[in-house]
Amino acid sequence: MSREIVLLGDPVLRQKAEPLALDGRADDDTRQLVDDMLEAMHDKKGIGLAATQVGERVRVFITNAPDDRERVFLNPEIVETSIETEVIEEGCLSIPGVNADVERPARVRVQAWSLKGRPFVLEADEMLARVIQHELDHLNGRLFIDHLDEDERSRVLSEYEELREAEAATNS
Ligand code: NI
Repeated sequence: MSREIVLLGDPVLRQKAEPLALDGRADDDTRQLVDDMLEAMHDKKGIGLAATQVGERVRVFITNAPDDRERVFLNPEIVETSIETEVIEEGCLSIPGVNADVERPARVRVQAWSLKGRPFVLEADEMLARVIQHELDHLNGRLFIDHLDEDERSRVLSEYEELREAEAATNS
């Protein structure tokens, strides 16, 4: 089953996702959700996707950062962040076509559960650390544009509006 990625303006993107009740191996619904999310992410050539972006309010995200493998995080929590920060350009499949520089911690330690129901801890840096922070934000109803100052945020939002209008004009 393929799932649509919801776009900016959909209220689900602003909602906090609920933890999964994990008792050993993830249940069939969760496994199906992850499969669908992987398909949707690859379809759009994304490097990460959170469950809220396909309209499911559960604490699940996936990553496929450059030079890394596919990863699945259930009930993820960032348990440590570096003091050192980094500015990296971000985009989002729910706000397609626009990008902006965002400053965040350079490294994170994340704790989560695998589909097999095993807890793990991962130390991430570079793009993987960035994607993890961006996706975890989604599970808390936060988007990358929330990290921008007012001017940069309006620039990104008006650029996005223009893109959508141009797209609507082409499709009509
Ligand atoms: Ni995103």
